[in-house]
Amino acid sequence: MPEKFNFDEVIDRTGSASYQWDCRQEFYGDNGVFPMWVADMHFKSPQVVLDALRQRIDYGNLAYTAMMPSFYKAITNWMQTQFNWQIMEDWVSFSPGIVTALCVAIRAYTQPGDGVLIQTPVYSPFFKTVERNNRQVIVNQLLLKEGYYTMDFGKLEQQLPKVKLAILCSPHNPVGRVWTTGELHRFGMLCKKHGVIVLSDEIHADLVYDPYQQISFANAGNNFADFSATMIAPSKTFNIAGLYTSAIIIPCPELKKRFDTEMDKSYLVEGNLFGIFALEAAYTKGKRWIEALLEYLRENRDIMLNTINNLPGMRAIVPEGTFIMWVDCREMGLSDDELMKFFIEKARIGPAPGTIFGKGGSGFVRLNFAYPRAMLAEVLQQLKNAVDELIPVR
Ligand SMILES: Cc1ncc(COP(=O)(O)O)c(C=O)c1O
Repeated sequence: MPEKFNFDEVIDRTGSASYQWDCRQEFYGDNGVFPMWVADMHFKSPQVVLDALRQRIDYGNLAYTAMMPSFYKAITNWMQTQFNWQIMEDWVSFSPGIVTALCVAIRAYTQPGDGVLIQTPVYSPFFKTVERNNRQVIVNQLLLKEGYYTMDFGKLEQQLPKVKLAILCSPHNPVGRVWTTGELHRFGMLCKKHGVIVLSDEIHADLVYDPYQQISFANAGNNFADFSATMIAPSKTFNIAGLYTSAIIIPCPELKKRFDTEMDKSYLVEGNLFGIFALEAAYTKGKRWIEALLEYLRENRDIMLNTINNLPGMRAIVPEGTFIMWVDCREMGLSDDELMKFFIEKARIGPAPGTIFGKGGSGFVRLNFAYPRAMLAEVLQQLKNAVDELIPVR
């Protein structure tokens, strides 16, 4: 009998120390909005993960814990079965989070003042990791044509000679693109030509909708593995972001050594007991759960696309992967402040404002769609009502 997973279950996350739900006052100045800003899901994590954690709790000893060979094996098997990329266990480094790994890699591979390229609009910590480490952000804006984002290769060609490191978001947050082999290949060849190291943030890699196919940058051709670090985690996929456990895959021994040395400087090498056990359970037993999740999310995505694209002034970009939707609201004719005011005060929804994603984000918002269907229907009705009643908010 096929296993049943209940994504319709509505859980109350208020008062659970949830970033999404319990920081609304701080972020929006309003505790009553429906929060759709943080990229986490309103579902319970898979039972196989919860069971693994419970088993450890029942065992009762939570002392220092090592990453055993089974931890690395779970990662190598996952990369092989999910992405057809055969990696070696000794290519894998641990990092608590991917953002931590970005900071460490920036320090390991560049010097203060060096140029680090990012493609905007993009996940805002990409800017912060570069700036806080005193490197220079080089912005390459993605091109938007008829609701579809592509890389600006012409501009890349001009910018890359000034760049030491490029951060690739693959799949891309917030625009939802799953880069094709052709795009990755062209991007990689340009980086290779100019001696640019690539950090490929693939945290959303497992959440890709058919017929799109996720290709790891390092596996996209021409020895891209030699000049890249691939960053993966079970955190988005299995909704365990609070456990802070990710894996950084660096096939080139010299680049791996530089990364590990920088990690060592902060003693960031020991994993968290629960993260270790959760990753192993998720990657060895979680496949059927994701298959069911993707079916559920795909329907949510389509419901949301259909609703938003029938609202005057709004146009949603189709997410090829991820559970977040990038919505073009420029035709509403509102300033960025007015747009947020409209969402918060009229629709009672808390989106991620487009402006935090950098150049190309003005006039947009990002909305999460990983909610039980009944909650999604309710919040979309709120949005529809607010648009229907739209009175000037200026
Ligand atoms: C592209 C991307 N990278 C990294 C992260 C966060 O990673 P971590 O929590 O492991 O630092 C997110 C979370 O939304 C993300 O979207």
